Amino acid sequence: MNQLIRLIYASKANFASRPPENGVEPTVARILMQSRQNNTRSDIGGVLYFGDGHFFQALEGDRDGINATYRKIQRDPRHTDVTMLSLKSIQQRVFGGWSMKYVPAEQEVRGFLISRGYIRFSPLEFNEDTANALIQFFGQQHGVMEGETRSAVKLLWRKLFRRNRITENSEH
Ligand SMILES: Cc1cc2nc3c(=O)[nH]c(=O)nc-3n(C[C@H](O)[C@H](O)[C@H](O)COP(=O)(O)O)c2cc1C
Repeated sequence: MNQLIRLIYASKANFASRPPENGVEPTVARILMQSRQNNTRSDIGGVLYFGDGHFFQALEGDRDGINATYRKIQRDPRHTDVTMLSLKSIQQRVFGGWSMKYVPAEQEVRGFLISRGYIRFSPLEFNEDTANALIQFFGQQHGVMEGETRSAVKLLWRKLFRRNRITENSEH
């Protein structure tokens, strides 16, 4: 079996943030959907955080899969300054149940950063210890399934729409 590893990196977003849809910035939501599709296929998982115009991500899986995915990520024009913060061999995954967990926890992250002496979310400056500690912290935070939220909203609209049509028909 291939070696299980965790790679952590940070980068700077190359786009101006727009207001969130379903709680997630629209470009980030697209990246998440694409990641979840691809990662499921290659048995990769991890966590993604987006804040103050920066990405912070951990990728967990076998070495070959992580290398191939990280190479694609490095070339992606949606971000720059892609900087590896940690690369470790691991015994087990923190994000075993996630193809890519998304943690919308701005307040909690601020608290974490303040406790470590940072005033802003500037992950490009994190040392390896801070990067690993934040990943462990994300392991305990609530994650959102953006895709599920979106289909749940669609389903609700469809139900409401159907109910209205039935009411209209029964009136005629
Ligand atoms: C911040 C960020 C994180 C990303 N994370 C992943 C990921 O976990 N898995 C993945 O396959 N692609 C990820 N991508 C997208 C890749 O860079 C690339 O666009 C994608 O893998 C290409 O997919 P394709 O080969 O299906 O066209 C990420 C991109 C960005 C900007």
